[in-house]
Amino acid sequence: MQQDSNRTPRKILITGGAGFIGSNFVHHWCKSYPSDRVVVLDALTYAGNKLNLASLESNPNLKFVQGDICDRTLVDNLLESEDLDTVAHFAAESHVDRSILGPGAFVQTNVVGTFTLLEAFRQRWNKREQPQSDCFLHVSTDEVYGSLEADDPAFTETTPYTPNSPYSASKAGSDHLARAYFHTYGMPTIITNCSNNYGPYHFPEKLIPLMCINILLGKPLPVYGDGQNIRDWLFVEDHCRALDIVIHRGKPGETYNVGGNNEVKNIDLVKQLCELMDELAPDLPVRPAKKLITFVKDRAGHDRRYAIDASKIKRELGWTPQETVAGGLRRTVEWYLANRDWWQPLLSDEYKSYYQKVYSK
Ligand code: NAD
Ligand code: TYD
Repeated sequence: MQQDSNRTPRKILITGGAGFIGSNFVHHWCKSYPSDRVVVLDALTYAGNKLNLASLESNPNLKFVQGDICDRTLVDNLLESEDLDTVAHFAAESHVDRSILGPGAFVQTNVVGTFTLLEAFRQRWNKREQPQSDCFLHVSTDEVYGSLEADDPAFTETTPYTPNSPYSASKAGSDHLARAYFHTYGMPTIITNCSNNYGPYHFPEKLIPLMCINILLGKPLPVYGDGQNIRDWLFVEDHCRALDIVIHRGKPGETYNVGGNNEVKNIDLVKQLCELMDELAPDLPVRPAKKLITFVKDRAGHDRRYAIDASKIKRELGWTPQETVAGGLRRTVEWYLANRDWWQPLLSDEYKSYYQKVYSK
C-alpha cells in the first residue's frame, strides 16, 4: 500500500486480533504502519490463537492483552491508558454451526460485547473532545442480509436486514447498535459487511480449512445438503486492505459492503480444493481426493446464496479485490501444506467433540 507522508499515526485497538481475520489485519497494520501503537484485545476462545501473532512477538509497538470485550473496566482502562483513537472490532463468535448448537455465547459476545465497546469508546471519545478523525470500525458480515434466490440481485448497503441464523441475528443486532451510536451521539462509527473470507490462520472448523485438512488426513469431506449453496469468496488480505482504506478514508456513519465478486457453489469449491491438493500434496492418503466427497444432512436453516455488490466501496474509496479465487485458493492450500505445525495441535479433544456433534447427525 502506498504510504501517505502526511498521515497522522493512529493508536488502534484491534479486538479479536488473535482470530482468523483479526490476526491477518494485525499483520497488515503492523507492516503498513510500523510506527502506530497497536493494542490487541482477545479472549483466546477456541478460535483465538496467540501463535497467529508469533512473528510479531518482539514488536515493541504491539501489545497483546488477553481479555473479554464484555469486561467494561478492562476496556475503559485500555482506552484510557493507551489513549486509543481507533477501534477495529473483529471479536465475535463467528461460526454459524456453533450458533445453532448454542446461541447464548453469540448474544453475549456479539451483542453485549459490541455494546460494551461502543459505550466505553463513547465515554473516551467525549473526554477526547469528540475528534471526527477517531474511528470505531465495526467489522460485520453479509449474512445479516439473509439469503438470495438464484436470480436475485446482489446485496447492496440498502438491502433490508433479514438474518436467518443466531450468528447473523446477533451480528445484525450489533450492526444496529453501531449505526445508532453515529445517529444518536454523532460518534464516528463505520460498518463493513463482508462476504466469506479465506486464507492463512483460518480455524479448521470452517469450510475451506476443514476440507484442506480432511483431504490431508484422508477423511470424508462433508458437503451439506445438495452442495449447491453459493458463497461469494474473498481472500483475507483483500478484506484487510479494504478495512484499512475504510478507516483512513471512509465516511463516519456509513456502511460499506466488501466482497470478492466470486460466487462459487460449495460443491465446485470443494472439487477445486481436491484438484489443488492432488497437484500440490505428494503423499495424500486417498487419491484423487474427490473420492472423499460425502454429502451429509443439511445445516438447519442453511442460507442458499450470498452475493455482495461492492460497487460503493469501489466508487467512493477506490477499493477492488486483487486476488482471484484460483490464485487465492492455491495460496491457501500451499499455506496449509506448509503449516502442519499450526493446524495439527488445533485438532484437540474439544475440536473432536464439536466435530462429533455436528457431523454424526
Ligand atoms: P474468528 O472466530 O476466527 O475469530 C474471533 C476472535 O475473537 C477469536 O480470536 C476469539 O478468541 C475472539 N473473541 C471471541 N469472543 C471474544 C470476547 N468475548 N472477547 C474478546 N475476544 C473474543 O472470526 P473471524 O472469522 O476472524 O471473524 C472476525 C470478524 O469478521 C467477526 O466479527 C465476523 O463476524 C466478521 N466476518 C467474518 C467473515 C468470515 O468469512 N470469517 C466474513 C465477514 C465478516
Ligand atoms: P462456513 O465456512 O461455515 O461459512 P458460512 O456458513 O458462514 O457461509 O460454510 C461455508 C459454506 O459451506 C456454507 O454454505 C456451509 C457449507 N459447509 C459444508 O457444506 N460443509 C461443512 O463441513 C462446512 C463447515 C460448511
